Amino acid sequence: MKKHQIGLIGCGMISRSHIPAISMLENAELAAVCDVIAAKAEAAAQAARCRSFTDARSMLQAMPEIDVCLIATPTYTHAELVELCAEFGKAVLCEKPIAMTASQAARVRDVVAKSGIRYMTAMVVRFWSGYVILKEMMDAGVFGEIRMSYFSRCSQAQRWDNDWLYDPILGGGAMYDMLVHDVDFMNSLFGPAKNVYALASRDETNCYQNVFASIEYKGGARGVAETSFTMREGYPFSMYAKVMGSKATAEFSYQAGYSINDRQGACCSLKIWKDGQDPICMEPEQYNAYAKEIAYFLDCVDRGKRPEAVTLENSIEVMHVINAIEASAKLGQVIELDRFDGRL
Ligand SMILES: NC(=O)c1ccc[n+]([C@@H]2O[C@H](COP(=O)([O-])OP(=O)(O)OC[C@H]3O[C@@H](n4cnc5c(N)ncnc54)[C@H](O)[C@@H]3O)[C@@H](O)[C@H]2O)c1
Repeated sequence: MKKHQIGLIGCGMISRSHIPAISMLENAELAAVCDVIAAKAEAAAQAARCRSFTDARSMLQAMPEIDVCLIATPTYTHAELVELCAEFGKAVLCEKPIAMTASQAARVRDVVAKSGIRYMTAMVVRFWSGYVILKEMMDAGVFGEIRMSYFSRCSQAQRWDNDWLYDPILGGGAMYDMLVHDVDFMNSLFGPAKNVYALASRDETNCYQNVFASIEYKGGARGVAETSFTMREGYPFSMYAKVMGSKATAEFSYQAGYSINDRQGACCSLKIWKDGQDPICMEPEQYNAYAKEIAYFLDCVDRGKRPEAVTLENSIEVMHVINAIEASAKLGQVIELDRFDGRL
C-alpha cells in the first residue's frame, strides 16, 4: 500500500481537524506542515511530529517525497497556492471556498487542466453522514418531485487571528465561508441553478453575516439556504437540512458544542416520513468526515481518477451562485444566473 506523504499548508483553525484526520488513515502520513507564522508551523509540527516550514515553496523544494498537498490557508490565497503545488506536480486537496469568485475558480480549473494534477475542493459536507444519506435518497428517487427544501448553518462569529475572514474581499464572512457548503450541497442534489434572491444583512465588518437565499433550479426544485455568523455567545454550531418531496420528507439536524471542533455532546438526527409508513428516526453514524474526505481524495490519486464527488465545474458553479446571491443582496433583485457576469 502506498503511504501518501502529505504537506499541509496553513496551520490555523481547520488544520486542527485535518491533522487528526490524517493520523486516522493507514495510507497517509503528515510529512510536513507550513505556515507563514513560524510559531504556528512549529506548534503543529511538534504535535504531528513532522518537519515545519514558513513558506510553501521551500517546503516543496526541500521535500520532494511530498506527493499530496492539503491547502488550509485563507481563501484569498488558495488560487496562487494551487498554482504553486501544480508547478511541483503535487495532487491538491484545497479547502473551500476554492476562491472568492467564479472567474478565479475557473482559473484554478485551467491551471489544474494544464498541469494534469489531481485536484479536489474540500467540501466536507459532501462526506458528512446525514448529508450522504440525503444525497443517496435523492439519487434513488425516494423524494419524488422536490416541492421545497431548506438548509441552514449558523454559528456565533468565530474570532481568533483571522481578520481575513471578516474582510468582504478576502473572506466574505458567513455568506462566503458558510453558505458555500449548503449551496454546494443543494447544487449536488438539484443540478444547475436558474435564479437566486437574497435577503441578507451586513454587520460592522461590512460582510453579509445573516443570509436567507432562495434558489430556483432549472430542474424545478426550489430551496432556501440560511446562514449566520451572528448567533450570540454560547449558541452551538448548528446545521440543518429539510427536503420536502412529493413522496417523502426528510429532516437532518446537527448541533455541536461551542464550535465545529467541539463534537462533545453533539446531537445529530435524521428523520424520514413517507405516507402510510411509520416515521424513521435515526442517528447517523458520527464518523470523522474530514478523514472520509481525505481518504476519498487519496483513493482517487491511487486510481489515477479525477475526483467525481466534487468536480472543478461544481466548484466554479457554486462560486457563480454565491457571487449572484451577494449581488442580489446588494441590488435587492432576483439574479438570473445565465445572465449574471460575475461578482459585483
Ligand atoms: N471545511 C470546513 O469545515 C472549514 C472550516 C473552517 C474553515 N475552512 C476553510 O479553511 C481555510 C482556512 O480557514 P481557517 O479557519 O483555518 O483560517 P485560519 O486563519 O485559522 O488559518 C489559516 C492559516 O494559514 C496561514 N497562512 C496564510 N497564508 C499562508 C501562506 N501563503 N502559506 C502558508 N500559510 C499561510 C495563516 O498564518 C494561518 O495560520 C479557509 O479557506 C476556510 O474557509 C473550512
